[in-house]
This record gives sequence, structure tokens and C-alpha cells, in this order.
Amino acid sequence: MKKFNSRGFPFHRGRRLRSSSNLRDLVAETLLKTDDLVMPYFIREDSDKMESKNKFGFKRFSINELLKELDEVVKLGIKSVALFPKIEVEKKTDDANESFNENNLISRALKKVLKEFPDLMIICDVALDPYTASGHDGIINSNGEIDNDITVQILVKMSLNLASSGCKIIAPSDMMDGRIKIIRENLETNKFSNVNILSYSSKFCSNFYSPFRDALGSRENLGDSKKDSYQIDYRNSREAVKESLEDIEEGADIVMVKPAGYYLDIINEIKKNCLIPVAAYQVSGEYVMIKNASDDKFIDYRPCVLESLSCIKRAGADLIFSYFSKEVAQWLK
Ligand code: PBG
Repeated sequence: MKKFNSRGFPFHRGRRLRSSSNLRDLVAETLLKTDDLVMPYFIREDSDKMESKNKFGFKRFSINELLKELDEVVKLGIKSVALFPKIEVEKKTDDANESFNENNLISRALKKVLKEFPDLMIICDVALDPYTASGHDGIINSNGEIDNDITVQILVKMSLNLASSGCKIIAPSDMMDGRIKIIRENLETNKFSNVNILSYSSKFCSNFYSPFRDALGSRENLGDSKKDSYQIDYRNSREAVKESLEDIEEGADIVMVKPAGYYLDIINEIKKNCLIPVAAYQVSGEYVMIKNASDDKFIDYRPCVLESLSCIKRAGADLIFSYFSKEVAQWLK
């Protein structure tokens, strides 16, 4: 930070620059744009339920419903969506084999969506939680541990399956060690050198993911079990920065901090320490808190949403995943 040279009050008055709306716009340091927003969607099989259980439960879209929805959001200027498949209970297993079935829900969705929207950036999670009977992001070995290296082998198959279904941005969100390196090597040797890796590199073991897990149908599977043996302890910032820097070294194209709102210091620190785009994920619990409080008229919806996202941007995020993205695109239009 530069030293501030001023003769002080009254020669300097900070309020002068805040004295009209046009002037405030002229000097504003942060601009929230639709271009930077990613809208997440949950998808389901036609036969599966549309609603997830709680009050603000996310809607799950069948592939056909998704196509209609995308028509709307693309017209609003949204350029990127993240898709999360809700896998039917019968298909969840200990070995998560459905994750690389070339005809699974996400692969079918990718192909259909890309046919109608070839330019849309579709970001797909690489993690096993939709597919495991345990609800964990990895495979449990005979010692009862989430086995890093066995899991990574399946993540590779899953990544190649997504890439061959047309995905241009895969997003490992599992927090296994070394997965970016091994996925990148496998993409290269299988002629997918143009597939980007957006690593959920600094992903915290947060308590704000529950509405997402309800939508994905993984919350019951997980039960009281925690993801703290692979996701980062929220008390740690140096470790979180290290994780992102390592993933860059291993071949990530974009890194991510998740959640966003309570982790602005981490976003800022990573932004200062790297030269690639930094993403932030305003997660389901953050969304629900604003939604809930404004439905009950404790806070004003639109200004609070815009403030929450602008502050994530100000902290250093180049792109933001948010469940508010569609509405914000409407407001900004
Ligand atoms: C799965 C995944 C999670 C989220 C995105 N990908 C949940 C988790 O790690 O349990 C959370 C997103 C949200 O809460 O909105 N690996």
C-alpha cells in the first residue's frame, strides 16, 4: 500500500468523491459483470423428484427442463453454468462406478446441452460424492479411510469421461492430493489438451454446504460423517494458500476458494500470490442465509445480494459461482 500524502482536513475531504452518484460510479474500483458469473444447476433423471426437501430447496431440472432454462439464462448474458447430477439411490455404490459410465446422467446432459448451446461454458464437478453410497468424495478402503490414491484413479476415469462427452472445463472438487497432476497428464495423453482444469483448490470443510447436499441427495448418505480428513480446516489460511499454489504447479488453469463470503482473506491472499484466474464459490448455505433473511424482511434482498457478490469480487475473485447469478444477470441487464 502506498503512503497516503495529504495535507489533511480540510484540504482533503474524503466525502468530496462520494458527493454524487455519477462521481461515485466514476471512481468505483469494482464492477460486477454478468460475464464473471457462473450459475449452478442440479439435474435429475425424468423419473426422479424435482424438489429437494427443505424450505429453500433447490429445484432439480430434468434434461429437457434444463434446456428450456438455459434458453432463458443465455439470453440474459450468462456464459457459464455448473451442472451437478442427482444420482438415483440405486446407482450409488461403494466403488462409484456410475461416475465414469459413458451414458450416465451428466454425460447425457452434456451432449444434449452442447448440441443446442455449443458456446456455453459448462463446468462439471469431478468428485465422487454423487456416486458413493457413503456420500464421501472418495472411496473408503479396508481400513475405513478415504483412500487418496484409489480415489484419484477413479477421478481420472471420470475426467476423461466428461472430456469425451464434450466438457471444456472440469472442476475437481474432491481435495485428494495429486489429482490435478495426474488428471492433467491423462488429459494430455488422451488428446484433451484443450480441456481446462478449474481446481477447487482451497476448499474448506465448511458447514455451509448442507442445502447443496440435500439437492444432490448425498446428505443422508453422509449422515454424521465429516469431510475433515480431506477438506481444509477453516482455521487455516497459509495451508489454504499452499493448496492453491500446489495445484497451479500441478497444472490447474483456474483455482478456486470455497466458500466465498467468510473466506475473503483467502481469496485476496491467493490473488496476490498467483498469476492465473481465481474463482470463488458463494455456496448454498451463503445463498440460503440471504434468501431466508430477506424473505423474512430482515434485510433487503437485491442490495444485499449485490453487496455480497461485489465484495467477493473486490477481494480478488475473477469469476464467481453463485445461485444468485441468474437474477443478478436480470438486474444488470
Ligand atoms: C462436491 C461439492 C460440494 C459443493 C460443490 N461440490 C459439497 C461438498 O463438498 O460436500 C458445495 C456447493 C454448495 O454448497 O453450494 N464435492
